[in-house]
Amino acid sequence: MPALIVLGAQWGDEGKGRVVDLLAAEAQVVARYQGGHNAGHTVVVGERTLKLHQIPSGITRPGVLCVIGNGTVLEPLALVQEMDEVAGLGFDLEALRISRAAQLILPYHQALDQAQEAGRGAAAIGTTGRGIGPAYTDKAARSGLRAEELLNFDRFAARFRQAAAAKNEVLTRVYGQPALDIEAMLAQLQPAAARLAPHVADTSLLVHRALAQGQRVLFEGAQGTLLDIDHGTYPFVTSSNPTAGGACVGVGVAPRAINGVLGVVKAYTTRVGAGPFPSERCDEVGEHLVQMGAEFGTTTGRRRRCGWLDTVIVRYAARLSGFSGLAVTKLDVLSGLPALRICTGYRCGGAVSEDWVPVGYALDDCEPVYEDLPGWSESLRDVRRWEDLPPAARRYVERLEALAGVPVDLISVGPEREQLIVRRNPWDVMRET
Ligand code: IMP
Repeated sequence: MPALIVLGAQWGDEGKGRVVDLLAAEAQVVARYQGGHNAGHTVVVGERTLKLHQIPSGITRPGVLCVIGNGTVLEPLALVQEMDEVAGLGFDLEALRISRAAQLILPYHQALDQAQEAGRGAAAIGTTGRGIGPAYTDKAARSGLRAEELLNFDRFAARFRQAAAAKNEVLTRVYGQPALDIEAMLAQLQPAAARLAPHVADTSLLVHRALAQGQRVLFEGAQGTLLDIDHGTYPFVTSSNPTAGGACVGVGVAPRAINGVLGVVKAYTTRVGAGPFPSERCDEVGEHLVQMGAEFGTTTGRRRRCGWLDTVIVRYAARLSGFSGLAVTKLDVLSGLPALRICTGYRCGGAVSEDWVPVGYALDDCEPVYEDLPGWSESLRDVRRWEDLPPAARRYVERLEALAGVPVDLISVGPEREQLIVRRNPWDVMRET
């Protein structure tokens, strides 16, 4: 029963969507385990470009069961809109399933997220403003509404009215915002609930049965390791656990069911939102990465902060999630940079650390330590075999492998499905273990 987790090793936007899209060709189930419509996964299928936010990237593969797991937070109105867009591009949504236990993001969560961010002033986190934090707050406070409530709209409406009235108190009294119109929100939510209700299911059981039948299940992480609420650059993090442990909790499977964990690493580093970023470059190198890598957010359109590859981060991510392999994305973006650098450690005070510095703010006082490597000028976009990469590109990937202590299985050299170098098929590797 092969179960493979795919997750981001950095601050998100590593290109997980295209990796999941690829691996889903050999899977029967793809399950999202955390996050909500803060995520943005771009998948290019021929002429069609999908911008997925809540729907698992496996939706591009007919017949694959796509699960929105209990660990996610689900915005019903946005999901219906996304379903319409995906259906409009000709993809089938028959196999979409939503966990009964997935928490709902409701309009007041979004209003609260934006009010809270404004209230943080200079200490703002730079959230996507989608209501993620407030929805997970309600989950932890045991006051959230879950997807199962959509099956009985009268009961949903009663609970919603009560919850929304309480949130209106906070919005008006604490944040000085106008109260939200509760009945208008309900009128919007009713058709969405009717549309989503047929997709609500006991998804933990579905995944369990698939595994018991020997089917291949892919667990799709959103965001990335350093946005993990426990292990990331707190408080500049999201409100869930993208690390591998989150997959078991967020779909409802046992740790022993997992056979492999693929870490997705962009060939350089990016981050959106505020918070520490030791290898950030705000010069012509950063500009090259933004322009050549089209580093603008899928969800918010924000320009991403860019910098050199940081292997301290990748090693840390490998330790937390137990990577069995890596997928390196966007190697092609580095073409044309005459010299490359890889961050191998941090100088904090007098001492150099090759381990992650766990206290977020302490990172501000750390200097990155770099290893210099030669660049290459050739375009990689048509390369399909490892041996056809320029020697400098191979050396770069081999240094990443050595410094991370994890083999590189896949290398992407462009957004199209076929712009890929496969060194080991992650599904085959799992079969051997
Ligand atoms: P939130 O998840 O909207 O609360 O935002 C918290 C932090 O996570 C902010 O820095 C966001 O920019 C970041 N973030 C959330 N989702 C993503 C994502 O899908 N990719 C990259 N960063 C993200």
